[in-house]
Amino acid sequence: MVDHRIVLALKLLLLVLFFESTFEQQQQERLSSPIERAALLGLRSTLGLRSRDWPRKADPCSVWNGIKCENGSVSEINISGFKRTRLGSQNPQFRVDSLVNLTRLKSFNASGFYLLGSIPDWFGQRLVSLQVLDLSSCSINNAIPGSLGNLTSLTGLYLYDNNFTGMIPSSLGQLVGLSVLDLSANMFTGSIPVSFGSLRNLTRLDISMNFVFGSIPVGIGMLLKLQYLNFSNNDLSSSIPAQLGDLSNLVDLDLSFNSLTGSLPAELKGLRNLQRMLIGNNMLGGSLPVNLFPVPSQLQTVVLKSNNFDGAVPDVLWSMPQLRLLDISGNNFTGMLLNASLNANTTTAELNISQNLFYGGLTPILRRFGFVDLSGNYFEGRVPDYVNDNASLVSNCLQNLSNQRSLHDCTSFYTEKGLTFDNFGLPNSTQPPARENSRKSNRKVIILASVLGGVGLILLLIILLVLLLFCIRKKGTTTQRGVGVGPVTPVPSGSSPPPPGVSIDFSSFGETFTYQQLLLATGDFSDLNLIKHGHSGDLYKGILESGIPVVIKRIDLQSQRKEAYLLELDCFSKVSHPRLVPLLGHCLEKENEKFLIYKHMPNGDLSSSLYRKTNSEDDSLKSLDWITRLKIAIGAAEGLSYLHHECTPSIVHRDVQASSILLDDKFEVRLGSLSEVCTQEGDTRQSRITRLLRLPQSSEQGTSGSLTTTCAYDVYCFGKVLLELVTGKLGISASSDAQLKEFSEQILPYISIYDKELVIKIVDPSLIIDEDLLEEVWAMAIVARSCLNPKPSRRPLMRYILKALENPLKVVREENSGSARLRTTSSRSWNASLFGSWRHSSSDVAVIPAGSSARPEGESSFKQSGASNSQGSGQNSGGDHSSSHRRHSREIYPEPSDEQDVERQD
Ligand SMILES: *[C@@H]1O[C@H](CO)[C@@H](O)[C@H](O)[C@H]1NC(C)=O
Ligand SMILES: *[C@@H]1O[C@H](CO)[C@@H](O)[C@H](O)[C@H]1NC(C)=O
Ligand SMILES: *[C@@H]1O[C@H](CO)[C@@H](O)[C@H](O)[C@H]1NC(C)=O
Ligand SMILES: *[C@@H]1O[C@H](CO)[C@@H](O)[C@H](O)[C@H]1NC(C)=O
Ligand SMILES: *[C@@H]1O[C@H](CO)[C@@H](O)[C@H](O)[C@H]1NC(C)=O
Ligand SMILES: *[C@@H]1O[C@H](CO)[C@@H](O)[C@H](O)[C@H]1NC(C)=O
Ligand SMILES: *[C@@H]1O[C@H](CO)[C@@H](O)[C@H](O)[C@H]1NC(C)=O
Repeated sequence: MVDHRIVLALKLLLLVLFFESTFEQQQQERLSSPIERAALLGLRSTLGLRSRDWPRKADPCSVWNGIKCENGSVSEINISGFKRTRLGSQNPQFRVDSLVNLTRLKSFNASGFYLLGSIPDWFGQRLVSLQVLDLSSCSINNAIPGSLGNLTSLTGLYLYDNNFTGMIPSSLGQLVGLSVLDLSANMFTGSIPVSFGSLRNLTRLDISMNFVFGSIPVGIGMLLKLQYLNFSNNDLSSSIPAQLGDLSNLVDLDLSFNSLTGSLPAELKGLRNLQRMLIGNNMLGGSLPVNLFPVPSQLQTVVLKSNNFDGAVPDVLWSMPQLRLLDISGNNFTGMLLNASLNANTTTAELNISQNLFYGGLTPILRRFGFVDLSGNYFEGRVPDYVNDNASLVSNCLQNLSNQRSLHDCTSFYTEKGLTFDNFGLPNSTQPPARENSRKSNRKVIILASVLGGVGLILLLIILLVLLLFCIRKKGTTTQRGVGVGPVTPVPSGSSPPPPGVSIDFSSFGETFTYQQLLLATGDFSDLNLIKHGHSGDLYKGILESGIPVVIKRIDLQSQRKEAYLLELDCFSKVSHPRLVPLLGHCLEKENEKFLIYKHMPNGDLSSSLYRKTNSEDDSLKSLDWITRLKIAIGAAEGLSYLHHECTPSIVHRDVQASSILLDDKFEVRLGSLSEVCTQEGDTRQSRITRLLRLPQSSEQGTSGSLTTTCAYDVYCFGKVLLELVTGKLGISASSDAQLKEFSEQILPYISIYDKELVIKIVDPSLIIDEDLLEEVWAMAIVARSCLNPKPSRRPLMRYILKALENPLKVVREENSGSARLRTTSSRSWNASLFGSWRHSSSDVAVIPAGSSARPEGESSFKQSGASNSQGSGQNSGGDHSSSHRRHSREIYPEPSDEQDVERQD
């Protein structure tokens, strides 16, 4: 009886379980909507997915990889890690139109799946139920459409590691449900949208590794849930807003590798949960607030290196209980080490206080660190045994050690502090015998060195002379040119240069196209598609199968030097900058012809778009307005400035002229003609020597011969481009030396810093210019003239030219009062105030925090010009500059010099 019941109950249970599971199967595991099924199949074919992952016949919900369904609808798609079919991978594109029919889709993850193209505009309008969008590492490019701001259900937006350009749309600030926003490792420019202050649910915000500039919006301080904040590796130049201190949940803060200024606000002590504080490699200064690190503290990592901090280090910093890494190297910190011993069992912590001004004896506090770098300070006394062998102690004033500072250095440092130096522990004579010997031998070494150095210098000069002659000879015979130049192996500053002569890895850049594909794209290289016979190859228009318009350079190796395309490819593989024309791929399969495939630039090049036919019947020409011309000049200067100053070794373009300045649909500059590039010969000192050698013969023209391998040559050519922009006389920049001489004689006399009106005589008559703009024109003319200085050493550096063009009024107004040479400014606020003038809209310009900056004047002009520029990109948007100029007239304007300034290094 009892048994019976149990059996019955069991049977019932089984039955229920069975029903439930089949119910589940029907309800959840089968796709019910035919529309969604069709959509998935559509996606499968446009993305080229394999039947292994998504078998056509099977039910997507139950069988397909990476699909999840809810109530018979597709709720999640994860194609990350998928491979495409062979057909699909030939033409990988961002074609996901079918997604619009998956109306219940909550998550789309394509991380790592190659989606060449841009995010479609309709994403924002149609995928409204989307909660998670992960498009990281998909090689997506172009700007993010502002419409993404409509996806208000989003909680996670992952767009890192792509090639996005343009500004970060401020509409993303509407995504108030976002918890994770990761835009890192792209090429975003512009400033951080102020609207981000509304993303109150963010726990993670990452904009690192972009080209974002301007300030950190105060509003970030309102993101109280934030745990991770990373703005590192950008160009942010404001001070750190005190409001950041409100982020009491923050665990990670990384602001390193920017240009942040000002001091650390004491309010940062509010970061109670901070474990990692990375603020190294900025331009921060001042002393650390005493209470910056309250105990108890979770801090594990504190990196303040390579700033301008001074003063003492707060005592608590040495004794943070959780500390694992303290790196404050490369500042002006001073004081003595805390004289205390801690019973911390953590002896693995690392301490780097090198290159500061610490002094006094070593103390037991060092016991708690497993690795210490104390080099480059003024520590004195004996080295205690608890300082272990792998500690770095060079360049101090320590006893019984080699590689210490000289007695003189140490004594004068301590004397200046009103202290006595222990004289390396030796009897109190002025010159300890041991040291004196070494000083004497030092002197001998110095004499020997200078003799050898003199001989070396002469040898060097001879070698350089030979090289010079060699270079000139090479130029004569075009077929051999470039042999000695070698492959360009520049690296963006920061990484160490690779060994010379590294081979080119073709797989690392662009796609490989087949010749067949190119024939198809260009209609068998039909003459109809020929754009022009360029000097490094013929340029053809083409349309890839995918519909992408491209420009194809056909290089005939029988008439071109062989190295040129390799140089160019190598260049593209090493440098990447939004101001260089994007190389999409190459086709090297034919022996005698090589092909490079570039992105098509809708507005051609400057030489062809300075004037363009209007659509009307009468064949009249419309010329570019002044604002656009100035924008083009700035864009080109940015590109060149990148090549000259941000690549090590510097890259010389060598073919700067109007036809090398390509223009995209928004007239943003993309430098082309990169087949002539080479690294600047020698380093600065050498080139100065070569300049010396050159002086006698180069007094007049200064452009020919091997001079073309110096940055100054680019500057010269750029001067011609500027003249062309000012005067509208086509062809100046392509002219020969003789023609240019003629042009110069006609034009240069009208460029004077003392007389604005003169310039009117040479200004392009088709420009409509009011009084304000005339000053800008005048300024550009002056810059052009200084670029055309016959003496290469007197030409300004590209980076100063860039600054001058960014704020032209500064050039002329300062000129009037002072010396006759081009002057520029290093003011960051001035810099920032100009960016709004042409980069897209200025509604995104962030506002500098009130009350936390040391430069209120800079702020106001920053805001002001942002506002004025938003009103119009028309002919008179320069109108507001005057006021911003006056605000800054008291600042210091360093003159451009031949010295290469100290570059920002890591
Ligand atoms: C599935 O549908 C049922 C009934 O319509 C509903 O109650 C449930 O919330 C739905 N589940 C989801 C995840 O949409
Ligand atoms: C997405 O799919 C890939 C490949 O099938 C898989 O390895 C990965 O774990 C999935 N990721 C998630 C978050 O489901
Ligand atoms: C979405 O579904 C409708 C109805 O079946 C269909 O007409 C349309 O083409 C589909 N859209 C896309 C982009 O596949
Ligand atoms: C997307 O898929 C990748 C790979 O499986 C995974 O690492 C990542 O976390 C996923 N993204 C999201 C937002 O879940
Ligand atoms: C960006 O584009 C360059 C060249 O087009 C390419 O080599 C690189 O891999 C791309 N980066 C990413 C993250 O897709
Ligand atoms: C989506 O965003 C765009 C641009 O931000 C806007 O113009 C449009 O009105 C929005 N559409 C909807 C449905 O919200
Ligand atoms: C000016 O801003 C641009 C864009 O961020 C940056 O590249 C440049 O270094 C800035 N110059 C100075 C002097 O701050």
